[in-house]
Amino acid sequence: MLDGLRRLWEVENLSPHGICLLWRPELIWTHIVTDTLIALAYFSIPVALATFVSRRRDVVFGWVFWSFAVFITACGATHLMAIWTLYVPDYGLEAMVKIVTAAASIGTALALWHLMPRALSLPSPTQLRRANEALRARIEERDQALAALKQANEERQRTEALMRQSQKMEAVGQLTGGVAHDFNNLLNVVLLNLDRVERGLPADSPLLKPLRDAMRGSERAASVTHKLLAFARKHPLSPVSTDVNALIGSFAELLRGTIGAKIRLETDLAPGLPPLSIDPNQLENAILNLAVNARDAMPDGGTLTIRTGPAQEGASTGEGVCVEVTDTGTGMPPEVEARAFEPFFTTKPLGQGTGLGLSQVFGFAQQSGGSAAIVSGRERGTTVRLCFPAAPPRPAPVPDTAEAPGFGFAPGLAAAG
Ligand SMILES: Nc1ncnc2c1ncn2[C@@H]1O[C@H](COP(=O)(O)OP(=O)(O)OP(=O)(O)O)[C@@H](O)[C@H]1O
Ligand SMILES: [Mg+2]
Repeated sequence: MLDGLRRLWEVENLSPHGICLLWRPELIWTHIVTDTLIALAYFSIPVALATFVSRRRDVVFGWVFWSFAVFITACGATHLMAIWTLYVPDYGLEAMVKIVTAAASIGTALALWHLMPRALSLPSPTQLRRANEALRARIEERDQALAALKQANEERQRTEALMRQSQKMEAVGQLTGGVAHDFNNLLNVVLLNLDRVERGLPADSPLLKPLRDAMRGSERAASVTHKLLAFARKHPLSPVSTDVNALIGSFAELLRGTIGAKIRLETDLAPGLPPLSIDPNQLENAILNLAVNARDAMPDGGTLTIRTGPAQEGASTGEGVCVEVTDTGTGMPPEVEARAFEPFFTTKPLGQGTGLGLSQVFGFAQQSGGSAAIVSGRERGTTVRLCFPAAPPRPAPVPDTAEAPGFGFAPGLAAAG
């Protein structure tokens, strides 16, 4: 065996391969050039495979690439040996190279066939693309479901907030109504008796001045209780059939005087509105209140617009009429907008606002079977919308002891009556 191996390396008595080609240059050079080119190409392939596998570490069956690299390198070596043996009869070395190449080829071939079922079970690019598309569709569905859930949640939170606000207004209304009612009765007694005393005093009595001061104070207190009663929907109303456009038309002149020259008054009155069964004095009072607020929100001037139109379909007021008072003033930040209808809520300095204007408007709209709502935003101006039904279900004035309908909120508005 050892002897056989030793003899494998012996080159005596052997002729180089070139002799077989009779050293004909065209044959010799064709062999040299083609074998060199094949060997170079073979050696470059393992480099490419190694670069690919080392950069794409996630590639499956990476070891197959390495065994290919060994196999192809060995193939390249056999071609180099073919050039070498043209001149040197190293056929033993050539045989060794071929043994290595054979081993690498067989190993790679066996590994490839062994791998075939697993390779075939891998998803094809088309299958992967389809799976990706399906996944993307599922993700989109999930995103849509999440968005719908978020929207439903927000809607629920909004409804809950409106509910809480409604309950708060209801509670404040009941409390205010009760206190204002009793207070009003007491003030009536006070005023009646002061009146009696005044009539009983001689014209030159020194008590007359303090008495009249007391009467003026009591009257102012009575006016506050009336505003509170209006908020609590316990102010007696005298509804009559009223053409809102005509009322605003004749009232506009008075408003111009109230809001001053710096503010432009515009009216946009929709024709063909049904008459309302409403207390015209209280409606004027509400519009005046809103106009004064608008004036205060536009210290540098602006535009005040009074608009009328039919109540939107689906609103609680059915076929009624809406009156909107819009200004181009400072607007309300959300925290003010949320509380603006509450009695005694004011952002004005002490002594400049009682905070009863909007609550009065709110109570009046409620008591008239309608609603009041604010649409505002910082620096966006403010719109207060009052909507009234053409024929309220129970338009009768509310006596002191009567139960007024609950405070409700118009759909889709920040705060409403
Ligand atoms: N048009 C408006 N623009 C901006 N903010 C307003 C407007 N109307 C009302 N507000 C805000 O709502 C608050 C409450 O208004 P409301 O009319 O009830 O009371 P007031 O105007 O402060 O006082 P009062 O009306 O008793 O003189 C105001 O203090 C103001 O902050
Ligand atoms: Mg006001």
